[in-house]
Amino acid sequence: MLLKILLAVVLLIVVALGALYLQVFVIGKKRKKLVFDEEYEKVRAQNYPPPFPNGWFSLGSSDSVKKGQVIEVDALGQKFAVFRGADGVVGVLDVYCPHLNANLAHGCVKGNNLVCPFHAWEFKTNGKCAHIPYADKVPQAAATKSWTVKENWGLILVWFHANNELPSWSPDGYFEEIASYKFYSKTTEVLRIHLQDFNENGADHAHFAYVHDLLTIPFANRWVTVKHVLDLEYGEGNKKHLAWFTDYADLHWKKSGKKIDRAGGKAVVTFFGPGFLIFKFSTEIGDMTLVKTFTPLAQLKVRMEDYVYAPKGTSWLAIKYLLGEATTQFHDDISIWERKNYAAKPLLVKGDGPIMKMRAWYSQFYTDKTVPVAEVEPREITEEAQVV
Ligand code: FES
Ligand SMILES: [Fe+2]
Repeated sequence: MLLKILLAVVLLIVVALGALYLQVFVIGKKRKKLVFDEEYEKVRAQNYPPPFPNGWFSLGSSDSVKKGQVIEVDALGQKFAVFRGADGVVGVLDVYCPHLNANLAHGCVKGNNLVCPFHAWEFKTNGKCAHIPYADKVPQAAATKSWTVKENWGLILVWFHANNELPSWSPDGYFEEIASYKFYSKTTEVLRIHLQDFNENGADHAHFAYVHDLLTIPFANRWVTVKHVLDLEYGEGNKKHLAWFTDYADLHWKKSGKKIDRAGGKAVVTFFGPGFLIFKFSTEIGDMTLVKTFTPLAQLKVRMEDYVYAPKGTSWLAIKYLLGEATTQFHDDISIWERKNYAAKPLLVKGDGPIMKMRAWYSQFYTDKTVPVAEVEPREITEEAQVV
């Protein structure tokens, strides 16, 4: 009994120190800004698959647009006017008015319509012009492009398809436990990466032992190392837009190699197409869930947002610590992705993980107009070839 109490106290002290360290030195400290050579970035971009795969993408949090408000949002290589009518329904329209191209996001909301600031034409959420104050009739053709919208988990999601096809899947019906969870925080970052790298991360098994082998608690790595057991599954049929990545991360004593009981954690990541994922992190000290969104802005430019949730009653200290560990691991990946190029024909060896299988799954989100990444054959080096 006494030993158990002692262990619990030690665990609490370790977590408290870790949380404090992460808060002050890791999360609190801004990531070192990379200086990008914009000319070279254009060359780098040519190697990557197209920047805008098909799927649902976040335009930000629901509370960023209150009833009667309109905002401008950059995403998917264009600008959107996002507004919320008196009925609470969100509309997403092309930002430029079809009349004389004034910026609709600088207009105002009247009832459930968006009013252009230039000649006061009024547009409904479906893009149709409802009223022209100085004309007897509204012509049939008077309309602007509207986007299919859904609001899930406090996010405004739009459906994007390169050929303007209707949604092939719905983000409804998932993560319903959010109703009983508490929202903690939101962070936004703009990264110079291609969003496909997030999905390839789970399939690239070899990098876990080199990029994700350390704990962020100061000095812990002298005695302890992290080992990962990984699994990846892909949805089929009407779930083919989903993939699940599981990481059992256990702590081992460096010297003896023995596993430390109840010290690890389990991360289950559900990928919802290319635009977002739900990351569930379960440990002895508590559980945390991240809703992580990736919205491509341009080639090699992605807005990443993290929305942090936890079951009610989870200790603040545990969330700080788990979030710090997860954020550090993500940033270790990101700093590699921001400096790398795209290997269309990677040199793979046994033990690399199912990278090409993940690419084959991901290729469903590109239209036939775009690069058929699944058809690219890897070059696999056999053990014999390596010896030579
Ligand atoms: S430009 Fe919008 S109403 Fe004229
Ligand atoms: Fe990684």
